[in-house]
Amino acid sequence: MKIEGQAALVTGGASGLGEATARELARLGAKVAVLDRNAALAEKVAAEIGGVACVCDITDTDSVNAALDKAQAAHGPARILMNVAGIGSAKRIVGKDGNPAPLEDFVRVVNINLIGGYNMARLFAARCAKLDALDNGEKGVMLFTASVAAFDGQVGQQAYSASKGGLVGMTLPMARDLAQHAIRVCTVAPGLFATPLLLELPEPVQHSLAASIPFPPRLGKPSEFAELACHIVTNGHLNGEVIRLDGALRMAPR
Ligand SMILES: NC(=O)c1ccc[n+]([C@@H]2O[C@H](COP(=O)([O-])OP(=O)(O)OC[C@H]3O[C@@H](n4cnc5c(N)ncnc54)[C@H](O)[C@@H]3O)[C@@H](O)[C@H]2O)c1
Repeated sequence: MKIEGQAALVTGGASGLGEATARELARLGAKVAVLDRNAALAEKVAAEIGGVACVCDITDTDSVNAALDKAQAAHGPARILMNVAGIGSAKRIVGKDGNPAPLEDFVRVVNINLIGGYNMARLFAARCAKLDALDNGEKGVMLFTASVAAFDGQVGQQAYSASKGGLVGMTLPMARDLAQHAIRVCTVAPGLFATPLLLELPEPVQHSLAASIPFPPRLGKPSEFAELACHIVTNGHLNGEVIRLDGALRMAPR
């Protein structure tokens, strides 16, 4: 699908990988809605790229529908959904104090990363399926953001890995399901990227993380994630696939 002129939605668009994706889409001529629960940052990014900020919580259906309505009123119906919003977490299943990990933590991470992603996808897809197909036969395309932790999760990453593994697992069945509606679905599994989360770590820790990447031995740039996200939109034969973007990184147990 040609990006220029299309209305696009980016969850997590206020920061990090989502922000870079929103900026790249805008640079390529899309009309971009920044969907994020951080109102101040969403407004800032949207203003800078000539887009619209739609504050929402991806786990809350009413809030997402209101955001989709606002985006549609500003830009027309969206054909591109970039699901980038997500949170991290690290908790050992049995803590150093011998107590079991709090179940609420597992529920919270799976609820945002996996169920929130599915919620966005279903609400977007139902709207997109009603649109006319473009000249190339396509109606829409969406992307999920997993993580290499879906495959090589580290100590303490059960909740995060389970949530990202869930996104990986639903990519193919969702692509098969939405084929009848001419909507493609792909997932990117990033390795270690230089987003606010990692840039807040002490420099020696950043260096040792970077050194663990075979090549190139540096953190990924958010712009590299954004380039791949936009390539998935423009390459009409990419569908039902999970793509690792990690410089050949395979995470060690800890
Ligand atoms: N940075 C990395 O190295 C890396 C590696 C692998 C995967 N990822 C994944 O990439 C995605 C983006 O990561 P990032 O590093 O850019 O993080 P980030 O914290 O910079 O950005 C995430 C954004 O998502 C938003 N968000 C969180 N929960 C939300 C909710 N319920 N509703 C709406 N918005 C919500 C936050 O407000 C924030 O703006 C995440 O899904 C993360 O798991 C990141």
